[in-house]
Amino acid sequence: MSLPSTLTLAHHLVEGVLHSGSLAVDATVGNGKDTLFLARAVGVSGQVHGFDIQQEALDRAEERLRAAGVAERVRLHRKGHQQMAETLPPDWRGKVRAVMFNLGYLPGGNPTVITRTDTTLPALEQSLEWLAPGGILTVMLYTGHPGGKEEADRVLEVLKKLDARRFRTVCCQTLNRRQAPFLIAVSKSGKTV
Ligand SMILES: C[S@@+](CC[C@H](N)C(=O)[O-])C[C@H]1O[C@@H](n2cnc3c(N)ncnc32)[C@H](O)[C@@H]1O
Repeated sequence: MSLPSTLTLAHHLVEGVLHSGSLAVDATVGNGKDTLFLARAVGVSGQVHGFDIQQEALDRAEERLRAAGVAERVRLHRKGHQQMAETLPPDWRGKVRAVMFNLGYLPGGNPTVITRTDTTLPALEQSLEWLAPGGILTVMLYTGHPGGKEEADRVLEVLKKLDARRFRTVCCQTLNRRQAPFLIAVSKSGKTV
């Protein structure tokens, strides 16, 4: 057996908390690979909301979701993830089973349009608030592009300080590859809904 990549590991962790009918959020839709993964995992009765600031990303994602026949269970927003709390249906608060962040820039897109610490941090804070007890937040962090390391350092700093009675936070990184992305996963404690 060989170890999975950190991205695959993120999917395994999220799969473990999603079931048919779950609510999930893709905070950085990009090419829509994670959105598609979430849409499949929540099944026909589940729902996914996705955020991205680039129309190009949303168009690619929409095409991917349509081709897979799951577009009707996904709402895509051309908005920053920092607008999550004002955008998600109010009755989703405390019921979201999984939120996925994949920071950095759109693969195959403009590499200067990147996620930014000043919007990433409020979006993470909102996600933790909207997460259901037993739910999970995953964050893929990249340090190879300008600004990536600073963003990753701040995200780590903030997530390390979460109250251990409410959250469990783990970090996983490939150690023998230069500038390998790393994964942070946060689970919210409490009775599962
Ligand atoms: C690494 S890509 C995401 C990859 C995606 N998960 C996939 O499966 O293809 C990061 C994305 O975050 C988007 N982004 C940048 N700032 C954002 C923000 N404030 N809110 C939401 N998305 C943002 C970028 O436009 C880009 O498409």
